[in-house]
Amino acid sequence: MSQSIFILLILIPLTFTQSVRGKDCVCDLKNSDPAFPEKKLKNVETSALQCTRTITSEKMTDLDRLMLGLQQRVKQVEENVIVLEKEDDRNLYGAVSLRIIELEIAEIQDLLNKLNRTTQNYHHLSVQPAAQLEVMKDKMAELEKFDNMQVIKTNRENERVKRDLEQCKEELNATTAAPPTVLPARCGLGRVVSVAGPRTYSLTVFTSYTYGAWGRDAQPAPGDENKYWLVVLSTSNVYGNFIRQYGTLSTLLLGIGPKDTYISSTNPTTNTIQGPNMVMYGNALYYNCYNTYSVCQFNMTTRAVSTVALPKDTGYSNKFPFAHLAATYAYTDMDFATDESGVYVIYATTSNFGNVIISKVETSNPPVLNQTWSTSLHKRTATNTFMVCGVLYATRYLDQETEEIFYSYDTKTKEERFDLKINIKKMQTNIQFLNYDPRDHLLYVYSDAYILTYELIFQ
Ligand SMILES: *[C@@H]1O[C@H](CO)[C@@H](O)[C@H](O)[C@H]1NC(C)=O
Ligand SMILES: *[C@@H]1O[C@H](CO)[C@@H](O)[C@H](O)[C@H]1NC(C)=O
Ligand SMILES: *[C@@H]1O[C@H](CO)[C@@H](O)[C@H](O)[C@H]1NC(C)=O
Ligand SMILES: *[C@@H]1O[C@H](CO)[C@@H](O)[C@H](O)[C@H]1NC(C)=O
Repeated sequence: MSQSIFILLILIPLTFTQSVRGKDCVCDLKNSDPAFPEKKLKNVETSALQCTRTITSEKMTDLDRLMLGLQQRVKQVEENVIVLEKEDDRNLYGAVSLRIIELEIAEIQDLLNKLNRTTQNYHHLSVQPAAQLEVMKDKMAELEKFDNMQVIKTNRENERVKRDLEQCKEELNATTAAPPTVLPARCGLGRVVSVAGPRTYSLTVFTSYTYGAWGRDAQPAPGDENKYWLVVLSTSNVYGNFIRQYGTLSTLLLGIGPKDTYISSTNPTTNTIQGPNMVMYGNALYYNCYNTYSVCQFNMTTRAVSTVALPKDTGYSNKFPFAHLAATYAYTDMDFATDESGVYVIYATTSNFGNVIISKVETSNPPVLNQTWSTSLHKRTATNTFMVCGVLYATRYLDQETEEIFYSYDTKTKEERFDLKINIKKMQTNIQFLNYDPRDHLLYVYSDAYILTYELIFQ
């Protein structure tokens, strides 16, 4: 099965006869339309690859960090082009995807310009990629023109054959797949090697709310150890104003005996919840306060709200949300995480070029921000994050069935890697909320109105 046949199969309208036999992956096709300029797409890909190779980081200075981020973005563009070639079942290819890739290239250009302004030392490094990007931009524009004329046809049979071929390909490759990369042991837990599950999978009583969060208090008051909390973003999938609590997991799953605690009777208003990625710690809820760049701490006992502001150029109200090629997750600018040592807030700032920043949140009253780490992970290339033992992990969308943990940042060593390949098997397409509970080592997930847990497997 050659790569070029694959591209033809996917990107041009065609009439063909085909057969898929066992592991032979045979496919005969007869093309009835002008060929898609497959070679041009290839060239763009090759340019992206060369561009990546040209940008090599040396020491881990701030500039190198920028370069690393840039390198990843270019790689991401390349991957997006590959997605475009493969097309999955969601019709997200064609003009729209090309446009997205164009926008991404424009953003990378913007980054390069900033980098160029920052220093002369890296001049020799930024000139070459910039030239290549120019060429790539032109080519993408050409491709887009072509696509508008030749609006790509979907064909159910075509889809089926492609799926069969993909499966066949995967089978062939199953034995040669690379093992997941792992991190050094921490917290006496060993390395994270895989994610098992889902262990629990259920709808809540709020079946129509696709954005929400749930879990257990990571630092419960005595007697509250078995309590579970649930928040749904009941206005516009963006805003929430109350926390529902259940005594046990089974009462939560059955919807029995809920206790609701309101932050405010109206929604949204000052200091109510914005966005799904919140956590409960020490009987207080930590979340992005409505329409500001502040962290809110809501005391479940007194119902008092205390706040602490993030840097002024922090993205909020959908400026730096989690995203992937086909979608962004509304108002996910701020993510909260719990691990063995407490609470963190994960966000992005303009001065860090939209890349992720991690700040430790001290859970005093009022809360205060403590140590802060800048990463080269572009926020919009991740779909969510969580922390384990001082290590940040980020996920990305692979397809409807699979989310992949692909990135890690160790706050102790400042080491970051983009090569993790730990899959999470999804039951629904989108993950709106994801957090690690240091008490049971489970990942708590809110996915299109379903609540799930997964078990982190340590070596
Ligand atoms: C970098 O900046 C210099 C001076 O501002 C400009 O002449 C040059 O074209 C820029 N290079 C790139 C690659 O943008
Ligand atoms: C198998 O996987 C390798 C590496 O991931 C890839 O280069 C190769 O194209 C794959 N082969 C098939 C038949 O999919
Ligand atoms: C919440 O209020 C109670 C009662 O005043 C207090 O003991 C507790 O420390 C507060 N929690 C936080 C996180 O401020
Ligand atoms: C900030 O973190 C350091 C290191 O963990 C700790 O010693 C210090 O007490 C923290 N500061 C506050 C205000 O909690």
